[in-house]
Amino acid sequence: MTIVGARPQFVKAAALSREFASREGIEEILVHTGQHFDANMSEVFFTEMEIPRPKYNLDVHSLGHGAMTGRMLEGIEDLIEKERPDVMLVYGDTNSTIAGALAATKLHVPVCHVEAGLRSFNMKMPEEVNRILTDRISDVLYCPTDAAIANLSKEGFDGFDCEVVKVGDVMQDAALFYAQKSKERSTLKLEPGFVLCTLHRAENTDDPARLKSIVEALESIHEESEVILPLHPRTKKKLEDYGMNSSLNIIDPVGYFDMIELLKKCKMVMTDSGGLQKEAFFFGKYCITLRDQTEWVELVEHGVNRVVGADGDKILNAYRKFSSRPSSKFELNLYGQGSASKNITDHLLQFTSKH
Ligand code: UD1
Repeated sequence: MTIVGARPQFVKAAALSREFASREGIEEILVHTGQHFDANMSEVFFTEMEIPRPKYNLDVHSLGHGAMTGRMLEGIEDLIEKERPDVMLVYGDTNSTIAGALAATKLHVPVCHVEAGLRSFNMKMPEEVNRILTDRISDVLYCPTDAAIANLSKEGFDGFDCEVVKVGDVMQDAALFYAQKSKERSTLKLEPGFVLCTLHRAENTDDPARLKSIVEALESIHEESEVILPLHPRTKKKLEDYGMNSSLNIIDPVGYFDMIELLKKCKMVMTDSGGLQKEAFFFGKYCITLRDQTEWVELVEHGVNRVVGADGDKILNAYRKFSSRPSSKFELNLYGQGSASKNITDHLLQFTSKH
């Protein structure tokens, strides 16, 4: 049984569900919690990426953390009782992830966590809480990077009753697969050379001072280089609530093919998303991270990502630094070069034959 609910999980499931379908001996029951529900935040990914239709949709969304996670927990528990899966598979760090992992572990269904071991070391982020707790109750921790393995080691996971496996990043599998199709399938008309920006993290959207500072820096960049901002519904609502106007090129959230074309044609990425930081790297673009920490530390170590928070001067400085550097193909193999889904599936088949 696989739990998905939020946009980045659809991208990850697209890669892994395709691999599952191509192999003997795996039946996947896909459960959508309903966390993301707008057509352009959910449905478009299932259609474009040909993700199997979820067998169940719990339709839980737009609630506070407790109510959202609690209702998902209850719904998933019922489905586990009904379907008796051999394994529960969860992705990433959202409320859907912790709900799936917690429901399964209480019913003694082994939990496999894809994207385990990542840390921002900021416990104020709901994602950090979700990922730490999910890791601790997982039986198999599929880590994307060496840094993730090292984090778990420091937290004592070597002594826990679980398996920690480095597999690479399923998001690179998806990027490589769909990049071949995006040109024909994207509907956007783009002039190369713009800055691609996304903004949705609670730490930025729920703090008017931070949001204002970021938007002002983007406005001043937009005077010399177009800033295209596919806007998450959370941020749209907050900008309206705070009465903030903007002259940036704001568009609705985009599907995966459009996002790949935006990545191919932009000159740089600015984001507070985790996934987009890596996707910038996959498409050879520098990334400015609008957060105070990143889980993808190897990108910073290799000089292709700068973590600047919400500080206007730092954002502009990083923009100037990266603008003066030619973009190139980043040839380093940090994320497995498309092998993660295969590695996970091989391991999962072995694991289930033993349990
Ligand atoms: C969630 C994840 C975050 C992930 C992000 C990807 C948690 C705690 N956070 O944040 O880690 O990076 O998804 O986008 O799980 N909304 C809509 N339509 C939608 C989806 C959301 O209007 O299709 C609204 C919700 O009603 C809510 C707000 O946007 O008011 C925030 O949605 P929520 O799912 O709580 O968190 P995200 O910000 O999307």
